[in-house]
Amino acid sequence: MSLEGKTAIVTGASHPQGIGAATAAKLAGLGAAVALVDLESADAELAERVAGIVASGGRALALSADVTDTGSVQSCVAAVAEQLGPPEILVNNAGVGIGSHRLLENSEEIWAQTLAVNLMGVNRFTCAVIAHMQAAGGGVIVNNSSMAGLGALAGIPAPYTASKHAVIGLTKAVALEFGGDNIRCVAICPGSVKTRLYDQVIKFHMDTHGVSFEHAQQMEAGLIALGYSCEPEEVADIVAFLVSPAARYLTGVTIPIAGGLAPGL
Ligand SMILES: NC(=O)c1ccc[n+]([C@@H]2O[C@H](COP(=O)([O-])OP(=O)(O)OC[C@H]3O[C@@H](n4cnc5c(N)ncnc54)[C@H](O)[C@@H]3O)[C@@H](O)[C@H]2O)c1
Repeated sequence: MSLEGKTAIVTGASHPQGIGAATAAKLAGLGAAVALVDLESADAELAERVAGIVASGGRALALSADVTDTGSVQSCVAAVAEQLGPPEILVNNAGVGIGSHRLLENSEEIWAQTLAVNLMGVNRFTCAVIAHMQAAGGGVIVNNSSMAGLGALAGIPAPYTASKHAVIGLTKAVALEFGGDNIRCVAICPGSVKTRLYDQVIKFHMDTHGVSFEHAQQMEAGLIALGYSCEPEEVADIVAFLVSPAARYLTGVTIPIAGGLAPGL
């Protein structure tokens, strides 16, 4: 699998333990020039991720953009095109998991912020790269949904669940409309990945069942057929396949990356 000559954008790529950082490192390792994008507040972390990729012989660039702001997203994509070349790979990974697992405790602001990042952020970046991909003769967009995009899971806030279901609908609409331009669009549904969001799920088990952190981790692992929560790199490996030419006939699909975690209701 080689991504030599391709330019990729990965959003939400700053945190060392995040799926975005692992994905950016993986794509760079396969030869892509990668733009790592995150909020301005994450600039120092982004710079570290980029330095790590460059030290391993890769090509990378750190850029700040707020996916809730159309102007910021458009400037970011223009900067990528100018500095690394037109983006042919987009990984819409930025996301937030805010709010309460109790529906009535979620304010309109929580709903608005969740949808602005998790759904509209995906739409904004997608709209901003389409013309570049059309000019390049094609491209691939991977949208990071969630197993909470396939069903409701205990402990997960309703705004998050709704936003991640919507991402799957958006993925299908983009795949249908732009298939003729050789632009593929797929959604991934990670299940239990050891990142900051995972810590929130473990805390839910701890609070609900009055158990220790270790016990809560075992409870979570017990829900998974393969018996463990995965590392971000295990998601990144599958994203690398999805954006590669080996997956060229795959579009509009939703891929659970969950070790056999049962979909929720
Ligand atoms: N960890 C899991 O178990 C899991 C499971 C299913 C889906 N996911 C999804 O994976 C993606 C990555 O999450 P993660 O677990 O690596 O956590 P993470 O918190 O490390 O990653 C999310 C990133 O998005 C960035 N972000 C948030 N709001 C933004 C905005 N307005 N503009 C730009 N960037 C913004 C954050 O700064 C952060 O770096 C998310 O979309 C999440 O919903 C994670």
